[in-house]
Amino acid sequence: MDKQKVVLAYSGGLDTSVAIQWLRERHDLDVVALAIDVGQLRQDLEMVREKALGIGAVESIVRDVKTEYVDDFVSKALQANALYENKYPLVSALSRPIIVKHLVEEAHRQGAHYIAHGCTGKGNDQVRFEVGIMALDPDLGVLAPVRDWGMTREESMEYAKERGIPVPTTSESPYSIDDNLWGRAIECGVLEDPWTEPPEDIYVMTSAARTAADESEYVEISFREGLPVALDGRIMGLEEIVTGLNDVAGSHGFGRIDMIENRLVGLKSREIYEVPGALALIEAHKALEDVCLERDLLHYKLGVEQKWAELVYNGLWFSPLKEALDGFIESTQQLVTGDVKLRFFKGSCVVVGRRSDYSLYDYELATYDEADTFDHAASKGFIDLWGLPTKVWAHQRKRAGHEGEV
Ligand code: ARG
Repeated sequence: MDKQKVVLAYSGGLDTSVAIQWLRERHDLDVVALAIDVGQLRQDLEMVREKALGIGAVESIVRDVKTEYVDDFVSKALQANALYENKYPLVSALSRPIIVKHLVEEAHRQGAHYIAHGCTGKGNDQVRFEVGIMALDPDLGVLAPVRDWGMTREESMEYAKERGIPVPTTSESPYSIDDNLWGRAIECGVLEDPWTEPPEDIYVMTSAARTAADESEYVEISFREGLPVALDGRIMGLEEIVTGLNDVAGSHGFGRIDMIENRLVGLKSREIYEVPGALALIEAHKALEDVCLERDLLHYKLGVEQKWAELVYNGLWFSPLKEALDGFIESTQQLVTGDVKLRFFKGSCVVVGRRSDYSLYDYELATYDEADTFDHAASKGFIDLWGLPTKVWAHQRKRAGHEGEV
């Protein structure tokens, strides 16, 4: 009888390589390895594909989903100005749901009953994988070999050597790194001491501000309905815009984050991120919204943005609330069309100009010059009524013998 199948989210690293053998040995399953290309830097995915076959996967697939990733995931994060804890643009949190989607599709195609991932038991990613899989197909079984086997790194190296699985030969980076088009996350090693300044050599997308160019550089980003469509007047696809901005912003030393973050599983962790393009785009998008969104909508959206980021961080991309908030966010973007000018210089990114055909900024209302059309006299009545409840209350407080406290 044919063995049952498992589709494994494969990265080519030691853990998921050992997992191929482990799933065969311990669970007696045929392993289909699936590597998803979301724009990881410095990875030869053809080698990754062959490696899985060499270890004993019955099939090994590499799927390039970059276009889908920017169109359906990055674009939503940008329109939501999504920053978890007001800082982190969801790099890993954003890529997990698209990986999950392709794992589930592949499981269906293969008639597999299981999906496996290589996450440990301590992070957010295990939650994102498993809750995502539940949402898309609650009948699929999930296996988490790395969480289950409880081997230290040395033990898994030993396990790999005994079974002829290639182990990293060069002295491997002491960091745990995850990256995609939207940025790069770096953790572990010396970074686990929150007092230790990150060593310069962990960075690959961003230069140090002090060695960055001595000249500032301006970039104009054009948006249409909340999405960037051109850089410096040149029409481009979103993927090209993101990678282009990663280069420009990164070369000026912009886009590094060093933060303590609250993981869903309850612990705080020290995280370093390189997110030059993501942060520059979010800054620009916010600046355009400042002129295009009506006040109440803008203020309300700020709360929605925070909730959206939290849901996605917490593994609830595929959830009814997140989907409903998508609907809200999309409807806010109808008139977010126009241009934003950014200036990069030695680690900074500053918005220096914004314009839109739909701008709600009205010069004649805002100016202090002669062109002023704002009705100054109307402010008197406005303040009287706006302040009325406060005034009535102040009278009562005074009558009760309490003077205003300052
Ligand atoms: N702390 C970040 C998050 O939860 C980054 C996780 C990076 N993942 C990794 N396997 N290194 O989104």
